[in-house]
Amino acid sequence: MELNKIAAAILLAGLIGMITGKVSTILYYGGDHHPGAESHAERGYTVEGADEMVEGGAAPAEAKLASIIPLLHSADAAAGEDFFNKRCTVCHGASKGGANSTGPNLWNVVGADKGTHAGFNYSKAMQASEGSWDFESLNAFLLRPNKYIPGTIMAYAGIAKEQDRANLIAYLRQQHDSPPAIPAAPAEEPKAEETLDETAEPPAASSAD
Ligand code: HEC
Repeated sequence: MELNKIAAAILLAGLIGMITGKVSTILYYGGDHHPGAESHAERGYTVEGADEMVEGGAAPAEAKLASIIPLLHSADAAAGEDFFNKRCTVCHGASKGGANSTGPNLWNVVGADKGTHAGFNYSKAMQASEGSWDFESLNAFLLRPNKYIPGTIMAYAGIAKEQDRANLIAYLRQQHDSPPAIPAAPAEEPKAEETLDETAEPPAASSAD
């Protein structure tokens, strides 16, 4: 009698294990599982422990971040100003001589050493960060502030759209005593992620929209 119950319990546990295994497979892959999807960087990103796995192995997402320079040449600073007024002015001013508020004033920030605007009380993380705010580091920071400078007190999730970041950086560049020159675009871009998708159209030579 007791043995039968134990056997039944073991069987049931096995069954539950099988079902939850299936469910997590479905949840993980969703409806669009196709070969190669596992290697997609974004996909790996959401998996717990992926950051550790990535060390020393495949390059982390940031290392693959495409240069913002090509987009910067055609970026729309007016659209960047608009974006800034919607998303950033809660915490930042960007006018010459403007006051610090929740965040530092951003006049002259392009080319400035990180975390050095006079009179602002930066986080330890920002104070410890090396280098200056060039176009690429701003691009990486604005994509994911807390990923680029872990421990930053800038409570802002980040800007996913590359075009938005380019426009914003073009605007910030203008909020400057002498706007730094935008370097020539790199001769050859690193292979873009789109190449993973065989069916993707080649990027249009010019898309005016
Ligand atoms: C919720 C408030 C908040 C918002 C919204 C915010 N920031 Fe910040 N920002 C901060 C704070 C606070 C710091 C200082 C971070 C630190 O010390 O770690 C900062 C730092 C920065 C820096 C570095 C400045 C320096 O002197 O080194 C830049 C650049 C920046 N923010 C740009 C932006 C842009 C562009 C936006 C809009 C997309 C934005 N921030 C939105 C609060 C904010």
